Amino acid sequence: MKKLAIATIPGDGIGKEVVPAATKVLEAAAEVHGGLSFEFTDFPYSCEYYLQHGVMIPNEGMKRLQNFDALFLGAVGNPEIVPDHVSLWGLLIKLRREFEQVINLRPAKLLPGIQSPLANPKDFDLMVVRENSEGEYSEVGGRMYRGNDEIAIQNSVFSRRGTERAMDYAFNLASKRKKHVTSATKSNGIFYAMPFWDEVFNDVAKGYPDIKSDSQHIDALASFFVTRPERFDVIVASNLFGDILTDIGAGIMGSVGVAPAANINVNGKYPSMFEPVHGSAPDIVGKGIANPLGQIWTAKMMLDYFEEEELGKLLLDVIEGTTESGMLTPDLGGNSSTEEVTDEIVRRLRERV
Ligand code: NAI
Ligand code: MG
Repeated sequence: MKKLAIATIPGDGIGKEVVPAATKVLEAAAEVHGGLSFEFTDFPYSCEYYLQHGVMIPNEGMKRLQNFDALFLGAVGNPEIVPDHVSLWGLLIKLRREFEQVINLRPAKLLPGIQSPLANPKDFDLMVVRENSEGEYSEVGGRMYRGNDEIAIQNSVFSRRGTERAMDYAFNLASKRKKHVTSATKSNGIFYAMPFWDEVFNDVAKGYPDIKSDSQHIDALASFFVTRPERFDVIVASNLFGDILTDIGAGIMGSVGVAPAANINVNGKYPSMFEPVHGSAPDIVGKGIANPLGQIWTAKMMLDYFEEEELGKLLLDVIEGTTESGMLTPDLGGNSSTEEVTDEIVRRLRERV
């Protein structure tokens, strides 16, 4: 029996609604598998926790989380009681940074039965590998003078190690998919960092002779995400470019409520963290209508990470069967509840035993 210890952090708002929904699905998936079991341990880190303890997560909590096989997080943020920069930097970003989750993975795929904002979407299925630790999101730079003479300098930081690491991840991933990696570049405009990025990409690509590779400038690439997303397989991008591309990816899927994500630690020192793209959705909290699919698809990414790809594929099939059947939450134009969608997914999973 393969036993996986998962720390669940529902967080705030609808995180508390969709995390229990997705753990229910994971438990059913484990039953279908037969040789797999999950042990979930719930942690209360959230804005309410902050009000009681003055920190989003204590040092002791960081130490405990380190020992889990993975973290499964809902959403963080309740701006009515704690400012967003305090809650997000105090928990979400702290976990990503301190646990060296240097790769951010976000798929975009057309789900049947869901209205994409694209007029005639072809069957796209792509994965963005975003460098998650350096690049444009650095703390190197400064400001001087005030008033009309004010200057702000923000430096990008690209290390060979960090760049290669993201690219290797992308090529390895592509070898299990459609065997094509596209590099998001801008070497015609960004004088130092992007020619460097291109050189590293060409070097890394040589190590994967059976994977096709190409480079596209980020502006054109952003446009192709809208006009022909079906042409892509794996896209590797810097921190900023990846951030923007993945939001376009979530956009063309039809609702932020379905978009999943993973933050991967690649050195094995700390756990990886799986969390959907959406936030705590204060406008719909407590209504029982939060879309659980983003969290459930995130659970599928966690299965893939644990090399349970067959079960992951089955779970995605079941998600697609459910959307195709028209059982949808209101954000997708339906009138089903969180519970109804979750129970339908569990039912369809059990049918596959
Ligand atoms: P949001 O993603 O929470 O909500 C944006 C819109 O999408 C809302 O209308 C919401 O109802 C809808 N929505 C989101 N997820 C949904 C779901 N699963 N089902 C149905 N509808 C869904 O983003 P917003 O409103 O900008 O932020 C709210 C709070 O969440 C803030 O405190 C923000 O800082 C935090 N946040 C946290 C994130 C995280 O934990 N990764 C990511 C984004 C925001
Ligand atoms: Mg973003």
